[in-house]
Amino acid sequence: EEGLHPAKYPWVHEQYLKTFDHQALRRGFQVYREVCSSCHSLSRIPYRALVGVTHTVDEAKAMAEENEYDSEPNDEGEIEKRPGKLSDYLPNPYKNDEAARAANNGALPPDLSLMVKARHGGCNYIFNLLTGYPEEAPPGVKLADGLNFNPYFPGTGIAMARVLYNELVEYEDGTPATTSQMAKDVVEFLNWAAEPEMDQRKKMGMKVLIIGSALFALSIWVKRYKWAPIK
Ligand code: HEM
Repeated sequence: EEGLHPAKYPWVHEQYLKTFDHQALRRGFQVYREVCSSCHSLSRIPYRALVGVTHTVDEAKAMAEENEYDSEPNDEGEIEKRPGKLSDYLPNPYKNDEAARAANNGALPPDLSLMVKARHGGCNYIFNLLTGYPEEAPPGVKLADGLNFNPYFPGTGIAMARVLYNELVEYEDGTPATTSQMAKDVVEFLNWAAEPEMDQRKKMGMKVLIIGSALFALSIWVKRYKWAPIK
């Protein structure tokens, strides 16, 4: 069964000449870290990827160091715990899928790294999903235990409850943390996670266009110049 068609929003970063708003990415990462990361992994993102995107080197290092990772086995083959480094990936909230399901009523919170690309509707779908929980299911809708009504989720019964509420996080740049602001920021951040090369790609596209047009103009001039005596 199809979910409700998501409303379309004018995402600035999706425009042809626009890059990501890095202030928004930083806020979005904060939402991921403080809200989503207790259930969802973001397994394709190492701390170093955040440097120069959402955080400074020192900030990223400090965040990595808050987690423990297994060390390489030492000479005795023992594995110890060591603090995280920039090259480490963001930690998984659960040890494995079984533990994840056990904590979520049997449902598996999917990895969010490629979610914007993986779901039909992309940014619009996830934004609508996060902000689209009504207070109550419509009369007559019976859902299995542990499922929450959300019209945007295919099947309308989703194991994830509403997670975003006004003022759930406190943004350091003073942006009011409304439900929709947090949803917008985290979606934009997840789009970056799925497409970290987008800014580069757009800038390169512009260069190709500008240099290509210049070369084309030059070739017309050369052609006219060469053919001038024959005309
Ligand atoms: C599913 C996003 C927080 C538990 C999902 C899906 C997305 C998502 C995009 C996939 C929906 C689909 O399959 O189409 C987010 C974001 C969060 C967040 C952006 C933070 C703002 C959480 C939290 C929990 C959670 C805190 C646990 C308490 C789940 C579960 C599913 C799920 C169990 C699977 C639902 C199902 O298949 O029925 N989430 N989530 N999520 N999420 Fe979250």
